[in-house]
Amino acid sequence: MPRIALMAAVVVVACLAAGLVSEVAAKKWTVGNNKFWNPNVNYTVWAQDKHFYFDDWLYFVYERNQYNVIEVNETNYISCNSDNPIANWSRGSGRDVVHLNVTKHYYLISGYGGGCYAGMKLSILVEKPPLPPAPAPNKSNARRAFTVSAFAPQFVIPVAVFAAIGLMWDNVVLPFW
Ligand SMILES: *[C@@H]1O[C@H](CO)[C@@H](O)[C@H](O)[C@H]1NC(C)=O
Ligand SMILES: *[C@@H]1O[C@H](CO)[C@@H](O)[C@H](O)[C@H]1NC(C)=O
Ligand SMILES: *[C@@H]1O[C@H](CO)[C@@H](O)[C@H](O)[C@H]1NC(C)=O
Ligand SMILES: *[C@@H]1O[C@H](CO)[C@@H](O)[C@H](O)[C@H]1NC(C)=O
Repeated sequence: MPRIALMAAVVVVACLAAGLVSEVAAKKWTVGNNKFWNPNVNYTVWAQDKHFYFDDWLYFVYERNQYNVIEVNETNYISCNSDNPIANWSRGSGRDVVHLNVTKHYYLISGYGGGCYAGMKLSILVEKPPLPPAPAPNKSNARRAFTVSAFAPQFVIPVAVFAAIGLMWDNVVLPFW
């Protein structure tokens, strides 16, 4: 029983390590933070101190009967024209995600009921993620690089699997001998 608990703990730690790394890699942005997708919010101000990277997600939360999320080009973004959309990101529930899977400018507006004229327009540039800084060739950096890589999933997962197999061997295989 304690061994099974330990095995479960090892697997949980491995999953957490993997989850932590993917969370660093892709960010989910709630558009407007606690004001969500609503009129009279300045989304230029909301976006201006942020960097949006390839593979991030935008999460739109809004009143589904009044607004939507339509991707348009720059001209139609400026004029609030949703007649020629590039994409319709609305799925009908008032909870939409936009996967930022292209490095480009995205122009997103609400195409209903004047929402766009009341400020429901978001323009962002999706950039390539920055490369991690190259480690400088001195001792303290080398040590830090080792510490980080020791917790990387490609290290943790094989160790966890190895440990789990060892524990299963003890628990399951030996009793049948
Ligand atoms: C939003 O804020 C920006 C920067 O302060 C400003 O230039 C812009 O006119 C504002 N937009 C609206 C719709 O008020
Ligand atoms: C956006 O699309 C409209 C047609 O809906 C077109 O007239 C306009 O030139 C396009 N603007 C850009 C910047 O591509
Ligand atoms: C966008 O797609 C949703 C779900 O398919 C649909 O209900 C809605 O009418 C569409 N909106 C526009 C403007 O095309
Ligand atoms: C990006 O995602 C959209 C919608 O999920 C999809 O239609 C499109 O093919 C994707 N583009 C690339 C370059 O992966």
